[in-house]
Amino acid sequence: MAKAEKQVTEAELKALEERRRAEQVRERAKREREKAQLGTLWSRRDFMGRLGWGVFGAFAGITLLGFMRSAFPRILFQPPTTFKAGLPKDFTVGEISEKFKKDFRVWIIRTEEGFYALFAKCTHLGCTPRWLAAETKFKCPCHGSGFYKTGINFEGPAPRPLERLRITLAEDGQIVIDKGVKYLYEKGDWTKPGAFLKFSA
Ligand code: FES
Repeated sequence: MAKAEKQVTEAELKALEERRRAEQVRERAKREREKAQLGTLWSRRDFMGRLGWGVFGAFAGITLLGFMRSAFPRILFQPPTTFKAGLPKDFTVGEISEKFKKDFRVWIIRTEEGFYALFAKCTHLGCTPRWLAAETKFKCPCHGSGFYKTGINFEGPAPRPLERLRITLAEDGQIVIDKGVKYLYEKGDWTKPGAFLKFSA
Protein backbone atom coordinates (compact mmCIF):
# COMPACT_ATOMS: atom_id res chain seq x y z
CA MET A 1 0.00 0.00 0.00
CA ALA A 2 2.77 2.41 0.99
CA LYS A 3 4.59 1.54 -2.22
CA ALA A 4 1.43 2.34 -4.32
CA GLU A 5 1.06 5.71 -2.54
CA LYS A 6 4.68 6.47 -3.26
CA GLN A 7 4.14 5.62 -6.98
CA VAL A 8 1.14 8.00 -7.22
CA THR A 9 3.13 10.77 -5.68
CA GLU A 10 5.94 10.35 -8.14
CA ALA A 11 3.49 10.36 -11.07
CA GLU A 12 1.88 13.48 -9.72
CA LEU A 13 5.23 15.10 -9.27
CA LYS A 14 6.20 14.28 -12.82
CA ALA A 15 2.94 15.71 -14.15
CA LEU A 16 3.42 18.80 -12.05
CA GLU A 17 6.93 19.21 -13.38
CA GLU A 18 5.72 18.93 -17.00
CA ARG A 19 2.97 21.46 -16.40
CA ARG A 20 5.52 23.81 -14.92
CA ARG A 21 7.79 23.42 -17.91
CA ALA A 22 4.92 23.96 -20.34
CA GLU A 23 3.97 27.05 -18.37
CA GLN A 24 7.53 28.35 -18.63
CA VAL A 25 7.63 27.75 -22.37
CA ARG A 26 4.35 29.62 -22.83
CA GLU A 27 5.58 32.45 -20.67
CA ARG A 28 8.82 32.71 -22.64
CA ALA A 29 6.95 32.71 -25.94
CA LYS A 30 4.65 35.44 -24.69
CA ARG A 31 7.61 37.56 -23.63
CA GLU A 32 9.25 37.11 -27.03
CA ARG A 33 6.08 38.22 -28.79
CA GLU A 34 5.79 41.32 -26.64
CA LYS A 35 9.43 42.16 -27.18
CA ALA A 36 9.02 41.80 -30.94
CA GLN A 37 5.98 44.09 -30.94
CA LEU A 38 7.81 46.69 -28.91
CA GLY A 39 10.84 46.47 -31.21
CA THR A 40 8.74 47.07 -34.35
CA LEU A 41 7.15 50.10 -32.76
CA TRP A 42 10.53 51.60 -31.83
CA SER A 43 12.16 50.83 -35.15
CA ARG A 44 9.25 52.57 -36.90
CA ARG A 45 9.76 55.58 -34.64
CA ASP A 46 13.49 55.54 -35.32
CA PHE A 47 12.90 55.44 -39.04
CA MET A 48 10.50 58.37 -38.94
CA GLY A 49 12.93 60.31 -36.76
CA ARG A 50 15.84 59.67 -39.12
CA LEU A 51 13.74 60.59 -42.13
CA GLY A 52 12.77 63.85 -40.46
CA TRP A 53 16.39 64.72 -39.70
CA GLY A 54 17.44 63.74 -43.21
CA VAL A 55 14.88 66.08 -44.80
CA PHE A 56 15.90 68.84 -42.44
CA GLY A 57 19.62 68.28 -43.21
CA ALA A 58 19.03 68.31 -46.96
CA PHE A 59 17.01 71.51 -46.73
CA ALA A 60 19.66 73.20 -44.55
CA GLY A 61 22.41 72.09 -46.98
CA ILE A 62 20.61 73.47 -50.02
CA THR A 63 19.94 76.75 -48.23
CA LEU A 64 23.61 77.02 -47.23
CA LEU A 65 24.78 76.27 -50.77
CA GLY A 66 22.46 78.94 -52.16
CA PHE A 67 23.80 81.42 -49.65
CA MET A 68 27.41 80.61 -50.49
CA ARG A 69 26.75 80.91 -54.21
CA SER A 70 25.21 84.32 -53.77
CA ALA A 71 28.25 85.34 -51.70
CA PHE A 72 30.60 84.29 -54.53
CA PRO A 73 28.97 85.32 -57.82
CA ARG A 74 30.22 83.63 -60.96
CA ILE A 75 33.08 85.74 -62.18
CA LEU A 76 35.59 84.63 -64.74
CA PHE A 77 38.97 85.82 -63.58
CA GLN A 78 41.17 86.53 -66.55
CA PRO A 79 44.69 87.84 -66.55
CA PRO A 80 44.90 91.54 -67.39
CA THR A 81 45.53 92.17 -71.07
CA THR A 82 47.94 95.04 -70.52
CA PHE A 83 51.42 95.09 -69.10
CA LYS A 84 54.20 97.62 -68.73
CA ALA A 85 57.35 96.81 -70.61
CA GLY A 86 59.77 99.37 -69.18
CA LEU A 87 61.19 102.64 -70.48
CA PRO A 88 62.07 103.25 -74.15
CA LYS A 89 65.68 103.82 -73.21
CA ASP A 90 65.83 100.18 -72.05
CA PHE A 91 65.69 99.07 -75.71
CA THR A 92 68.39 99.27 -78.34
CA VAL A 93 67.64 100.40 -81.90
CA GLY A 94 67.37 97.37 -84.16
CA GLU A 95 66.74 95.03 -81.24
CA ILE A 96 64.07 92.33 -81.20
CA SER A 97 63.35 92.08 -77.50
CA GLU A 98 62.35 88.63 -76.31
CA LYS A 99 62.07 89.77 -72.69
CA PHE A 100 58.31 89.36 -72.70
CA LYS A 101 57.98 86.34 -74.93
CA LYS A 102 57.88 83.73 -72.16
CA ASP A 103 55.38 85.48 -69.90
CA PHE A 104 53.29 87.40 -72.41
CA ARG A 105 54.09 85.87 -75.81
CA VAL A 106 55.11 89.25 -77.14
CA TRP A 107 58.15 90.59 -79.01
CA ILE A 108 58.93 94.29 -78.84
CA ILE A 109 60.81 95.64 -81.83
CA ARG A 110 62.78 98.88 -81.61
CA THR A 111 63.35 100.73 -84.90
CA GLU A 112 64.90 104.14 -85.68
CA GLU A 113 61.41 105.65 -85.63
CA GLY A 114 59.94 103.93 -82.61
CA PHE A 115 58.40 100.62 -81.48
CA TYR A 116 55.92 97.97 -82.46
CA ALA A 117 54.83 94.80 -80.70
CA LEU A 118 54.28 91.44 -82.38
CA PHE A 119 52.12 88.66 -80.99
CA ALA A 120 54.32 85.52 -80.91
CA LYS A 121 51.64 83.24 -82.31
CA CYS A 122 52.01 81.66 -85.73
CA THR A 123 49.07 82.49 -88.01
CA HIS A 124 49.06 78.95 -89.35
CA LEU A 125 48.07 76.79 -86.37
CA GLY A 126 49.16 78.89 -83.43
CA CYS A 127 52.64 77.61 -82.52
CA THR A 128 55.17 80.01 -81.05
CA PRO A 129 57.80 80.99 -83.62
CA ARG A 130 61.46 81.67 -82.75
CA TRP A 131 63.52 84.70 -83.59
CA LEU A 132 66.57 83.59 -85.60
CA ALA A 133 68.91 86.55 -85.31
CA ALA A 134 71.46 85.16 -87.78
CA GLU A 135 68.79 84.84 -90.47
CA THR A 136 66.85 87.93 -89.30
CA LYS A 137 63.54 86.15 -89.39
CA PHE A 138 60.93 84.57 -87.20
CA LYS A 139 60.69 80.85 -87.86
CA CYS A 140 57.86 78.59 -86.75
CA PRO A 141 59.13 75.20 -85.53
CA CYS A 142 55.87 73.41 -86.31
CA HIS A 143 55.52 73.56 -90.09
CA GLY A 144 58.27 75.92 -91.10
CA SER A 145 56.48 79.21 -91.66
CA GLY A 146 58.83 82.18 -91.85
CA PHE A 147 58.13 85.84 -91.08
CA TYR A 148 60.24 88.93 -91.70
CA LYS A 149 61.20 91.22 -88.84
CA THR A 150 58.12 93.29 -89.69
CA GLY A 151 55.91 90.27 -89.10
CA ILE A 152 55.07 89.73 -92.79
CA ASN A 153 54.94 86.05 -93.77
CA PHE A 154 57.12 84.91 -96.67
CA GLU A 155 57.50 81.13 -96.45
CA GLY A 156 55.64 78.08 -95.23
CA PRO A 157 51.91 77.55 -94.77
CA ALA A 158 51.12 80.62 -92.62
CA PRO A 159 48.33 82.40 -94.53
CA ARG A 160 48.94 85.90 -93.19
CA PRO A 161 51.40 88.07 -91.25
CA LEU A 162 51.87 87.96 -87.49
CA GLU A 163 49.53 90.21 -85.54
CA ARG A 164 50.66 93.46 -84.00
CA LEU A 165 49.47 94.58 -80.56
CA ARG A 166 48.56 97.99 -79.22
CA ILE A 167 51.63 99.83 -77.96
CA THR A 168 51.51 103.18 -76.18
CA LEU A 169 53.35 105.22 -73.57
CA ALA A 170 51.99 105.47 -70.02
CA GLU A 171 52.09 108.71 -68.03
CA ASP A 172 55.12 107.45 -66.14
CA GLY A 173 56.98 107.13 -69.45
CA GLN A 174 56.84 103.35 -69.63
CA ILE A 175 55.84 101.38 -72.71
CA VAL A 176 52.42 99.74 -72.33
CA ILE A 177 51.35 96.75 -74.38
CA ASP A 178 47.68 95.85 -74.66
CA LYS A 179 47.19 92.31 -75.91
CA GLY A 180 43.46 92.91 -76.06
CA VAL A 181 43.86 95.17 -79.11
CA LYS A 182 45.25 93.59 -82.26
CA TYR A 183 46.17 95.14 -85.57
CA LEU A 184 45.97 92.99 -88.69
CA TYR A 185 48.10 93.80 -91.71
CA GLU A 186 45.55 92.37 -94.18
CA LYS A 187 42.93 94.76 -92.82
CA GLY A 188 45.20 97.78 -93.18
CA ASP A 189 45.44 98.16 -89.38
CA TRP A 190 49.20 98.64 -89.18
CA THR A 191 48.92 102.30 -90.10
CA LYS A 192 46.46 102.99 -87.30
CA PRO A 193 47.57 104.84 -84.16
CA GLY A 194 48.41 102.27 -81.52
CA ALA A 195 49.96 99.84 -83.98
CA PHE A 196 53.20 101.79 -83.87
CA LEU A 197 54.70 103.96 -81.15
CA LYS A 198 56.70 106.81 -82.57
CA PHE A 199 59.70 107.57 -80.45
CA SER A 200 63.03 109.20 -81.08
CA ALA A 201 65.65 109.37 -78.40
S1 FES B 1 51.86 76.44 -86.78
FE1 FES B 1 53.41 77.62 -87.56
S2 FES B 1 53.81 76.79 -89.45
FE2 FES B 1 52.19 75.60 -88.71
